[in-house]
Amino acid sequence: QVYPVILSGGSGTRLWPRSRASLPKQLLPLCGERTMIQETVLRAALPDTAGPIIICNEAHRFLVAEQMEEIGVKPDAIVLEPVARNTAPAAAVAAAIVAEDDPEGIVVLLPSDHVVTDVAGFKLALQAAVDAARAGNIVTFGMTPTHAETGYGYIQKGAPLSGGAYAVERFVEKPDAPTAERYLESGDYYWNSGMFVFRADVLLEEIATHAPAILPAIKESVALSTRDLNFYRLEVESFARAPNISFDYAVMEHTARAVMVPCDFGWNDVGSWSALLEVLDRDDDGNVLQGDVLVEDVENSLVSSGRGVTALVGVKDLVVIVTKDATLIADKNRAQDVKKIVDKLQKDK
Ligand code: GDD
Ligand code: MG
Repeated sequence: QVYPVILSGGSGTRLWPRSRASLPKQLLPLCGERTMIQETVLRAALPDTAGPIIICNEAHRFLVAEQMEEIGVKPDAIVLEPVARNTAPAAAVAAAIVAEDDPEGIVVLLPSDHVVTDVAGFKLALQAAVDAARAGNIVTFGMTPTHAETGYGYIQKGAPLSGGAYAVERFVEKPDAPTAERYLESGDYYWNSGMFVFRADVLLEEIATHAPAILPAIKESVALSTRDLNFYRLEVESFARAPNISFDYAVMEHTARAVMVPCDFGWNDVGSWSALLEVLDRDDDGNVLQGDVLVEDVENSLVSSGRGVTALVGVKDLVVIVTKDATLIADKNRAQDVKKIVDKLQKDK
């Protein structure tokens, strides 16, 4: 059996002011009618998959439940984290829950905040990954890099295996800029998409080997969890004991069982406003205009007006986001630095 597990614990700070702690980007309809978590759940369904398991912060439980109801999906469980501990503990929770009934069950671990344009291509890659995972591998999806992005993990491709998969020679999470540049030039490295497919028992073994402090905390938290409706509440004290570390650093950089399926299904992690501009339909001047917006001689800009009229004259390469209580004006090429503003706001609190 295949179990889609959706990670929805991030806060999407670089998409401030639309993405907020109370309503993070995966719960927003940023690229169409449906929210990103709704799109994720719908594209993860294969013929033999179980209902999705969604792992999110407890503050978002009703929003998540409502959004699933809206698309007619009944989750197997909505697992509630009392505190954020990053993705390695969340992956261990997923494996521990699936292993209770089905130790060799295949977990498809998916971020909730990515855009995929070729859904049929995604499903083919997913099926190949599921097949490779049955043999005991931890499968990643490799994306062809287009620039020396430092916000991604990099996978060095090794020897070809059966079914279109490759061994992983090396996995490096978020290298510095010169290293990323070298990887890009070598032509040997792929971006890690952040989606992983593995058998529950295999992952628990790899966590025990490479990140041993996680396992006792997570096992206890799952054992002491309580359920109401299909909310699955992790026990707080034991969960909080798990180290705060991402799956990439905890497992992927160390495991010898990693394999990669190279993919090309139009993938974007929509990490920033400029990334969003790339995936949306632009007009002839390269603009994306949302809400009540007027422009005169404006190029390559994203303008979103959530309150009143917003007008721009004679500018280019801008991101302008107006919401009820906050306005962002940024150079499109500095979109990553929006995070610094959010850090400042949090410090002032
Ligand atoms: N449940 C839960 N709990 N989910 C979480 C938590 C948490 O504490 N922290 C993050 N997530 C979710 C996010 O909502 C997102 O959907 C996913 O896990 C990945 O987390 P990010 O914080 O967005 O990771 P990243 O973008 O820095 O890096 C990962 O993704 C890149 C591709 O987008 C890595 O896997 C990189 O190697 C990869 O290149
Ligand atoms: Mg991300």
